[in-house]
Amino acid sequence: MDIQFVAANAALSPRTALARIVFEGASLDGSVAQAAAASRFTGAKGQSLDILAPAGMDAQRLVLIGAGKKDAYDAMGAEHAAASAYNAVKLSGLETLRVELPNGGGTNAARAALGVRLASYRFDKYRTKEPAEKKPSITKTEVVSSNVDGALADFVPLAALADATSFTRDLVSEPPNVLYPGEYARRVKALETLGLEVEILGEPEMMKLGMGLLLAVGQGSLRESQLVVIKWNGADDKKAQPIAFVGKGVCFDTGGISIKPAENMEDMKWDMGGSAAVAGLMHVLAGRKAKVNAIGILGLVENMPDGNAYRPGDVLTSMSGQTIEVINTDAEGRLVLADAVWYCQDRFKPKFMVDLATLTGAIIIALGNDYAGCYANNDELGANLMAASASSGELMWRMPLPAAYDKNIDSMIADMKNTGGRPGGSITAAMFIQRFTNGVPWAHLDIASTAWKKPSSVPTIPDGATAFGVRLLNDMVAQKYEI
Ligand code: BES
Ligand code: MN
Ligand code: ZN
Repeated sequence: MDIQFVAANAALSPRTALARIVFEGASLDGSVAQAAAASRFTGAKGQSLDILAPAGMDAQRLVLIGAGKKDAYDAMGAEHAAASAYNAVKLSGLETLRVELPNGGGTNAARAALGVRLASYRFDKYRTKEPAEKKPSITKTEVVSSNVDGALADFVPLAALADATSFTRDLVSEPPNVLYPGEYARRVKALETLGLEVEILGEPEMMKLGMGLLLAVGQGSLRESQLVVIKWNGADDKKAQPIAFVGKGVCFDTGGISIKPAENMEDMKWDMGGSAAVAGLMHVLAGRKAKVNAIGILGLVENMPDGNAYRPGDVLTSMSGQTIEVINTDAEGRLVLADAVWYCQDRFKPKFMVDLATLTGAIIIALGNDYAGCYANNDELGANLMAASASSGELMWRMPLPAAYDKNIDSMIADMKNTGGRPGGSITAAMFIQRFTNGVPWAHLDIASTAWKKPSSVPTIPDGATAFGVRLLNDMVAQKYEI
């Protein structure tokens, strides 16, 4: 998508769809007012009105987008309205979208452009014969602004966010025969062109480190497990203590020997969504040259049933030295994270660690499909995450880590077991990971509920991979951890 910011009097491009964002109750003139009155269009949020060949206008099409009440309108309103405008005309056959905002200052115009960038994401590389009329036709967006220079400047970091979001969505959308741990690691290695440093550890290196949990999960797969370490050193003080992010990267989760039912098993290609969000976060930090030192760690495995697969009943030794009795090989994410989180604190001594994982079906039962679960052993970190959730629009709900539940993962024969029963299943999964944090400030985001949306209810998120976490964590870093 080609994005431009233009003055209100700039000549229209040929074959333009003009989108006018209007407040609820705003006065409209002439034939537009007539059309609105004939269709119950009031400007309420979510409404749109399409007018073909509007009288007295050069545009081929005029679409009114309701922005809701003026008092409640903000930059997120501009972003969502512009995304809705794109969605309304993307299949029109026209090439250019021009967006007119009710208040097109620099910031709102830049956010509108972000809205169009996010909404126009599409994963279509495997379509070979899609009819032309089903393909989006809009290739250029002009956002009208009273402050073109300001909009351009504000858009720079937002364009980096949009690029990173697309990178994450691509990873999550890729089929599991294409994106296995080795291929995934190569795609992340390619981010070195952005200024990131990427290290890849294979099975021999992880064996030496004693990562008995991560390796056990991957041992039934023909694909080699990988641990990817991404470094961004953007702080002025290159020695400043880093912040760290760890992601679950199960490229496909069959459940292993505790195999999942066939129905919807294809969804388990996106069981690497947490790690893809971490990769996307590192992408945007580098893309906008964030003044922070950050580490991203991806635990990449494939969970397969096989003659060499790990079994329920196995006792594993983690890198931390703690032993784990396997009850269910489908509770594999926490095993991968346990070694990755321990490695993270052991090697990097970070200020804090945040892990992201499509960890449990139980979080979907608890919170539904719009909220991720946020666990934190440190209230400052928890509050910073929740503030970023509010600003980014990526919804989360703070969940408890009750000491009394910890005994649910005690084992009869080892230090712990890998499941805590159905009650509070997302909580006991979090508390399993907590046992590997070694007292470092830590938070865990269970994003099984939000990594994939079908259907999507947010105009900036097309159906499918959401990239949940990239924007939230980028906001948190920008708000609290850049110096
Ligand atoms: N990857 C799944 C969790 C999941 C479920 C993600 C649905 C996205 C959508 C995870 O590895 C898993 O299988 N968890 C089990 C844990 C249980 C065996 C204790 C679950 O949630 O059922
Ligand atoms: Mn599983
Ligand atoms: Zn899983």
